[in-house]
Amino acid sequence: KGDSGLSEINLLKRQVSTLEGQLRALQSSFSKYKQVIMFPNGRIVGEKIFMTSGYEGNFDSLKQRCSQAGGQLASPRNAAENAAIQQIVVLYNKSVFLGINDIQTEGRFKYLNGENIVYSNWQTGEPNNDNGVEDCVELYSSGKWNDKSCGERRLIVCEF
Ligand code: IPD
Ligand code: CA
Repeated sequence: KGDSGLSEINLLKRQVSTLEGQLRALQSSFSKYKQVIMFPNGRIVGEKIFMTSGYEGNFDSLKQRCSQAGGQLASPRNAAENAAIQQIVVLYNKSVFLGINDIQTEGRFKYLNGENIVYSNWQTGEPNNDNGVEDCVELYSSGKWNDKSCGERRLIVCEF
């Protein structure tokens, strides 16, 4: 009885050590796979991935495309996330629309889920609601934000 208990433990030890080896191999192959799929259009910040497909369209169209892909329009909640989106803007030399707007209440900018924004990076003088028609937010290659008409066409960046 004692002997069969011991050999059971030894069997389990071998199985655990096999699994540890397989896990290490999987981790290293996954790490390489991440590098490949992030090149050149994706950026990882913590748990978040930002990605562009190169598509350009108005706010509603960008919002719909990100959602259809299982993500949402990029919604930076801190400076590191903002910088990652900025890198994609610089790479394409095209401004993007963020998942932020004040469509519901003028001057009160919210994420797509209705939450008030917790971070902003407005260009000096913005948001100015130019001509009373600017409810969406574009991110310039400087990383700074400008409110802009949602009907304009901008580059897509989704977050997942
Ligand atoms: C405008 C200016 C302005 C900004 C507006 C833009 P435009 O560009 O950059 O500072 O607040 O959102 O539309 O119309 O002069 O090319
Ligand atoms: Ca503006």
